[in-house]
Amino acid sequence: MRRMTWKTCAATAILVAPLMNCADETATAPAPAASRQSTPAPATTVTPALVRQLAAGRGVVPLPRTPYVRPALARLGQALAFDKILSGNRDISCTTCHLPEFATGDGRSLSVGQGATGLGPARQLPSGIFIPRNAPPLFNIGAMRHLFWDGRVEISSHGHLNTPAGGQLSRQMRRVLEFGPASAIGLFPVANRDEMRANTGNELAAIPDADNPAIWAALMRRLGRIPEYRRMFEDAYPGQRFERMTFAHASNAIGGFLVDKLTFADTPWDRFLAGRDNALTPKQLVGAQTFLTLKCSLCHNGSTFSDEKFHDVAVAQVGPGKGNGPSLRDDFGRMNITNIETDKYLFRTTPLRNVEITGPFGHDGAINTLQAFVEHYSESDLKLLAFDPMQLEPSLRSTLLPNSADILAQRDTLLKGVVLTPVLVEQLMDYMSALTDDKARNLAHLTPHRVPSGLPVDR
Ligand code: HEC
Ligand code: HEC
Repeated sequence: MRRMTWKTCAATAILVAPLMNCADETATAPAPAASRQSTPAPATTVTPALVRQLAAGRGVVPLPRTPYVRPALARLGQALAFDKILSGNRDISCTTCHLPEFATGDGRSLSVGQGATGLGPARQLPSGIFIPRNAPPLFNIGAMRHLFWDGRVEISSHGHLNTPAGGQLSRQMRRVLEFGPASAIGLFPVANRDEMRANTGNELAAIPDADNPAIWAALMRRLGRIPEYRRMFEDAYPGQRFERMTFAHASNAIGGFLVDKLTFADTPWDRFLAGRDNALTPKQLVGAQTFLTLKCSLCHNGSTFSDEKFHDVAVAQVGPGKGNGPSLRDDFGRMNITNIETDKYLFRTTPLRNVEITGPFGHDGAINTLQAFVEHYSESDLKLLAFDPMQLEPSLRSTLLPNSADILAQRDTLLKGVVLTPVLVEQLMDYMSALTDDKARNLAHLTPHRVPSGLPVDR
């Protein structure tokens, strides 16, 4: 029989869960760590039935079915995602930052945009510049209602698609977007000068920043000069002529490709939820109970392990920032979208599927390893105050912003008093290991041999 031990609520200040019927004692100061860890604890039996019940209680559910994606649409989207033709100076594609070899991220804290050479951690500064945030993986984005770390591409609670383009995204264009936020996302990196468009040297760079429609139209002119693309667009949208299409058709195709090829619903956890008791190892089962009983799953829940809400979990601020604060190097997160002061430093709860392979972690990649991120939750206030910039790549070390007090003023109250013993950290790590779909580990087959523009494909 599998057994695990519980710390009693009264004796500990670990992430206490309502499901354990503990009074919330996060307001009281935690006892010294040594006495907490030596508390004798009653044992509780972990059973598959109990874990499924806990999951249901926290709203941790399977991924919804993937929508049908027309093969011709996915093919077009794949070509576009790998084709540097979408960047101003034809030197960077979506997948330069979202590399199949790096679990659709780039394996570094912050991405390096257009103008640089090299890939992943080997991509060279100073010709390129740091993008203010970590490139997240592109997994399961069809199941998410908020995209980007600040959720600025989102389906509102009223079912309205909000994007930074506002009214520039016409009703006609919106109608083309079949997969929600996933279909809209491709509209934005192409307009961003640091990511793809560049400041000089091409016809897209000459367009004023505010004029998204002109940028999108210029991209369609580029694509339209390549007969293979015209054919692919018309195959992807049967009965429509390329001349009548907009960049929404391109972005929607990229979204279709991502939803079709990067949705991974076959993890040990999914097999367990579907009824296979032995899909989890004994350790993963214990880990699941820990995750589902501690506060983790009060935020990390739903089908992607994100409540799709925004929280401050005390991650250090590094990199060029989003132009916020007196230094202009701060990143106010969700507040940049809502203008609401209490949204300052809040970022979207990160989805956790395949999290084992998607480091570095946090909105600015400030934390390199998964274990360090899990440990971060233990006295996260002290962790932030003690953050050592030497763990960052050399060119980022001097960018650590001394704004810990401001970040802590906004830290989510759920994290107050949270202390994790090494045993709990290990159990949580065991659970994280149950969230990886083996198919996500090797994505090399997604990189096409060639793209219609004939430009080189990063691999
Ligand atoms: C220069 C590197 C770079 C390029 C090029 C790039 N991205 Fe990204 N991508 C990022 C970064 C950084 C973020 C996070 C930005 C933020 O949240 O503010 C991101 C976020 C995303 C997300 C959101 C994922 C999530 O979980 O919210 C999607 C989807 C995405 N990119 C798709 C694309 C597509 C499609 C393209 C090409 C049209 C593209 N990216 C080009 C770096 C890049
Ligand atoms: C108050 C809500 C909340 C709680 C509780 C919480 N998280 Fe998070 N988690 C977040 C948010 C928000 C982020 C992104 C923060 C950022 O980047 O600034 C995050 C990020 C993460 C990441 C990094 C993922 C990535 O890809 O960058 C991991 C891993 C993680 N959380 C695991 C856990 C575990 C394990 C627990 C329980 C010990 C936990 N979280 C508790 C909200 C929460």
